[in-house]
Amino acid sequence: MENPSVWRDASPETTYPQLRGDLNVDVAIIGGGITGITAAYLLSKAGKSVAVVEARKIGEGATGFSTGNLYATIGGEGLHNVGSKFDANKMKEVVNSRAAAIDLIEQIAGNEGIECSFERVPWTLFSVEGKSESFVIKEKEAAETAGLEVFPHISYPMPVSEGFSLQNQAQFNPLKYVTGLATKIYSSGCQIFEGTRATNVKEGETCVVETTSGNITASQVIMATHTPKGIYFVHTLLEAYREYAVGVTLKGEYPAAGVYWEMQSSEHYSVRTADSPKGKILMALGQMHKVGLKEENADSFEKLEAFLRERFDVASVEYRWSAQQFKPADGIPYIGKSIADNKTYIATGFAADGLTYGTLAAMIISDQIQEIENPWSKTYDASRITPLASASKFAKENFTVAYELAKDWLFKEDANELSEVKPNEGKVIKLNGTKCAVYRNESGSLHAVSAICPHMGCIVHWNAAEKSWDCPCHGSRFAIDGEVLEGPAYNPLKKLNQI
Ligand code: FES
Repeated sequence: MENPSVWRDASPETTYPQLRGDLNVDVAIIGGGITGITAAYLLSKAGKSVAVVEARKIGEGATGFSTGNLYATIGGEGLHNVGSKFDANKMKEVVNSRAAAIDLIEQIAGNEGIECSFERVPWTLFSVEGKSESFVIKEKEAAETAGLEVFPHISYPMPVSEGFSLQNQAQFNPLKYVTGLATKIYSSGCQIFEGTRATNVKEGETCVVETTSGNITASQVIMATHTPKGIYFVHTLLEAYREYAVGVTLKGEYPAAGVYWEMQSSEHYSVRTADSPKGKILMALGQMHKVGLKEENADSFEKLEAFLRERFDVASVEYRWSAQQFKPADGIPYIGKSIADNKTYIATGFAADGLTYGTLAAMIISDQIQEIENPWSKTYDASRITPLASASKFAKENFTVAYELAKDWLFKEDANELSEVKPNEGKVIKLNGTKCAVYRNESGSLHAVSAICPHMGCIVHWNAAEKSWDCPCHGSRFAIDGEVLEGPAYNPLKKLNQI
């Protein structure tokens, strides 16, 4: 892995078998992150036979690249955003449901004896030097309205112009938690397959999950894949973003354990400490941009380092990684049955809060499968239509997709000749009438794949910071050999052997 996260470095690698042949279970789960493994845990406990298929390793999708922060309020666009799109009741439902998800993680870690450094810590939101004060003030009011108790902000090595804290929030090592939970469920009979990529889901009397090495027949399917695989209406309601993280050691004192969100006028940064094999680490996450729409992103890591050096006495930079998130149009994730499907459940639109929402999604969906009434099903209903709350983002996102599709098909060529692709660079080139995504490695060899995203036909863009081909339309990402890294695409970029 080119950019392993601090969690990858601090957690043992899993070795589950690949699926070989066909299988029949009550519930098939696609995706072995926190959503899939928690759902598998809850459903197995309820007596269902469950199989989890993971394209790579358990927790190596979004879960293993997150911050490991858990809080009842909302990160990113904020709780007040839900209040302004809906009402105070909706904010309360969101906060209460998120708090219940954090409690469940604490319970599971305790009951199952999972060593994942779970601890209750304060969460702090602040602006520095007068930037983004109004956002912080609105968030403070929203937190109080939603029933959260607000405290003065925790000290920070920058002048804070406005800030507040919430007590009793939490942090953990998300990869140790998920791999620990996977070990528990596997030992009690839940089937887990790694290196097994789902390639299609067919619905009929029963569902069939087709994979690269066998089919799974199931009464129900959970798409625990961060964004659903294939073509779903919900893709028109999601914006895909990438953000970057660095982990450093400090010469001096580390900030007290806690979640620190620093708001700036056009950016926000999430800061926390964590233990790693390289000692105590201070990490910062930020530099967010839409997937595929920041051509010059190579300096994202440097900017994050500069952010930390301005505030702390940095000794060394030990980790660099990146993560993806999908923002929902109305500020609330989509969890449950999608509009079209009867037996397939989706869980997406978690924005910056995938660990909490992933756990909540597992709670809601496992109740729905067992036909148990869940108090939050309606709030997160994946088939809801909220035209007023979603209108501006829906229009913006679909304009972006249409614009990218048209612009890229008409104009997207970064170079005319292969010789223009320098070592370590990727460019889209039209060769023999075909749009090709061409990467030249350090020793000069060329890797060429089709530049046409197999999801819905947009043209992929080069991601210099991560050496991947990223699709600006719905966030699919591909390795230089075309393999799917993440997103809704089932299939890889087509390999081109002759250029
Ligand atoms: Fe939808 Fe590429 S992700 S077209």
